[in-house]
Amino acid sequence: MNESDSHRMGEALARAGWEPTPAAEQADLVLVNTCAIREKAEDKLYSALGRYRLLKTQRGTKIGVAGCVAQQEKERLLRRAPFVDFVLGPDHLDKVPELVRKGGVETAFLETEQYLFPQADPESSRGNATAFVTAMKGCDNVCSFCVVPYTRGREVSRPYAEIVREVASLVAVGVREATLIGQNVNAYAGGCDFAELIRRVAAVPGLLRIRFTTSHPMDLSEALVRCFREVPQLMPHFHLPVQHGADTVLQRMRRKYTIAEYERRIAALPAEIALTSDIICGFPGETDDEHRQNLEFLRRTDYDNLFSFVYSPRPHTGAILKLEEWGEVPREIAIRRLEEVQSLQMARTLKRHRDRVGDTVEVLVEESGFGRSRENWTVHFSGDAQPGDLVNVRVESASLVALRGVQLGVTGSAPRVDPPRKRRLSVVPA
Ligand code: 5AD
Ligand code: SF4
Repeated sequence: MNESDSHRMGEALARAGWEPTPAAEQADLVLVNTCAIREKAEDKLYSALGRYRLLKTQRGTKIGVAGCVAQQEKERLLRRAPFVDFVLGPDHLDKVPELVRKGGVETAFLETEQYLFPQADPESSRGNATAFVTAMKGCDNVCSFCVVPYTRGREVSRPYAEIVREVASLVAVGVREATLIGQNVNAYAGGCDFAELIRRVAAVPGLLRIRFTTSHPMDLSEALVRCFREVPQLMPHFHLPVQHGADTVLQRMRRKYTIAEYERRIAALPAEIALTSDIICGFPGETDDEHRQNLEFLRRTDYDNLFSFVYSPRPHTGAILKLEEWGEVPREIAIRRLEEVQSLQMARTLKRHRDRVGDTVEVLVEESGFGRSRENWTVHFSGDAQPGDLVNVRVESASLVALRGVQLGVTGSAPRVDPPRKRRLSVVPA
């Protein structure tokens, strides 16, 4: 989501005459787009600001802070880092040129009716095989560890016609894969439900692959499961975060399901789907027995991959208010538990990758010699395929993070893309 927001801000600035520079040292403006999901992400902001402050004194570089930490800290951020010129929440991406001029703080949440989704400029995706497409924003859940509802606000869905139009404009410049994004994307309700949105997007001619992220298990509908079986463009990868394997922890997390319910839901998915998940270790009050239940659940659930984190207390959230009552898990214990979770999953991911050696996998090429399989695995290969090509690759070796192989042949040719449209400018004497 942040990556997509960065693109939208870059496009808004380009319309106002700015161009990107590869090095911050050459910049007239440094815009730091922040994440507040864990404290570590937040700390990164202040160390980055320390570095950019020097540029300001040396060459007058303007400094802006955007994203979820900006939203969370508002004016407080200017008090802590007074050399920052402006602070901009995620609801105001297209206001960035105005804030560069005026400075100040723009972090008010907009009412659902007022909110307009920024439109992607397809030109900035020309030559890319993949693109993110925003389907919805915000989250109406209240998971007790999570700051997102406070930084991204309530759920707002983008009208489906706008999404389909944007996908079509991206396909016209060569994009072959669209990832529909939203904090709780399967709760989409922009004139149709999420399953229907997938079918409408799949109807865009020339689009080869659809992915989506991220989903809450309670919003997984039967209609979405049918899409996995019936929509050939929908890739067999599903990121469905469980967060923990013990019911008592899930209850404290306010996740609204039990492990039995989660397991029932994933059992309904087609067998070939690569299922991935998020896990939090050291959630307040987590006992040895709850951790054991977590490991047991992970052992019997055949996750393709897992993103696991140590719990980080976040402002405003339900869990931080209960921290004393539930009891903080000492950091060393939380880290040890995380390592146990990670080593369990690493062994399994490595085995899954190694089991594919000798197989042929279909890869959408993103850069020369690099692309992704249908399951979203990273694949490096030797061969001459171009970005946007769909190729078969014979897998020759595998590591924890990628497959390596040889290109066998191009199954879908690179899109014919017209050369970039030159902007015409006329200078008229006053
Ligand atoms: N501490 C640790 N991990 C968190 N996540 C969200 N909030 C926290 C937190 N306070 C994790 C969840 C979520 C992923 C994006 O980040 O697992 O699914
Ligand atoms: Fe956060 Fe996801 Fe829960 Fe929403 S559903 S509160 S984004 S963890």
